[in-house]
Amino acid sequence: MMSDRVPPGVSAAVPNVARMYDYYLGGKDNFASDREAAEKVLSIIPEIRGDARNSRAFLQRAVRHLRQEGVDQYLDIGSGLPTAGHVHEVIEGAKVVYVDNDSVVLTHSRALLGHSPDVTVQEGDLRRPEAVVERAAQVLDFSRPVALLVVSLLHFVTDEEDPVGIVHRYRDLLPAGSHLVLTHVAPDTMPSKADDVSAVYRNATSPFTARRRSVFEALMEGFDLLEPGIVNTREWRPDRDTDPSPIQGDYHLCAVGRKPA
Ligand SMILES: C[S@@+](CC[C@H](N)C(=O)[O-])C[C@H]1O[C@@H](n2cnc3c(N)ncnc32)[C@H](O)[C@@H]1O
Repeated sequence: MMSDRVPPGVSAAVPNVARMYDYYLGGKDNFASDREAAEKVLSIIPEIRGDARNSRAFLQRAVRHLRQEGVDQYLDIGSGLPTAGHVHEVIEGAKVVYVDNDSVVLTHSRALLGHSPDVTVQEGDLRRPEAVVERAAQVLDFSRPVALLVVSLLHFVTDEEDPVGIVHRYRDLLPAGSHLVLTHVAPDTMPSKADDVSAVYRNATSPFTARRRSVFEALMEGFDLLEPGIVNTREWRPDRDTDPSPIQGDYHLCAVGRKPA
């Protein structure tokens, strides 16, 4: 996509949240409108690149930890463009289902990941839990624990769409012993800037809503939190061996929880 040649059926005119995120992470799968909007966000929060990297580093530590604990099935919703360090690249011997609702993400993911027998790419919308789980169950065994990843995604779900209700629905559909790996941008950590960032995303494919810690706590209700609980991404079990050198920008709250028996 470096040539900005637009594949059929794809709108390059509207800034796209997946491709803006790819731009923050240094990827090449983005168009001029994505870069322009992403640059506006960068002018408000230059550390957004670091924030994206720190969130992805958390995701990687979380799945490595869960893999060590024996979890061998992963459902990654809003998986994004496979810029670097996707779940199946950092763990081995596990089945991974990537779900996204963006046609560019799906095309790229299928092209890059489709040949691995343990990796499946599915179209799906986080806001339709039953449909997502039903489709994923064609590949994953929902009579055994599954790790559900909802990373850097829920702030693209509006209040009217009831993000807490959506996450609780997944919780109810998951078997006991399953895990939820969650991050969410919190205005508590960027109080004066969240509204300016929301204004840029109003013209993008999804609006952006930062949410306070109290909402994050509600999202994790019904899960037993793994140590260290709800923290900013850099504080969740940092690992000097695998983490990138410390980067400024950490606006996501994160947690890993386990559904009890
Ligand atoms: C900021 S990216 C995060 C990517 C990845 N999870 C990560 O943490 O690096 C958000 C992703 O969620 C996808 N997305 C947005 N709304 C969605 C929805 N309702 N259902 C499924 N995917 C969605 C976007 O297409 C994009 O790929």
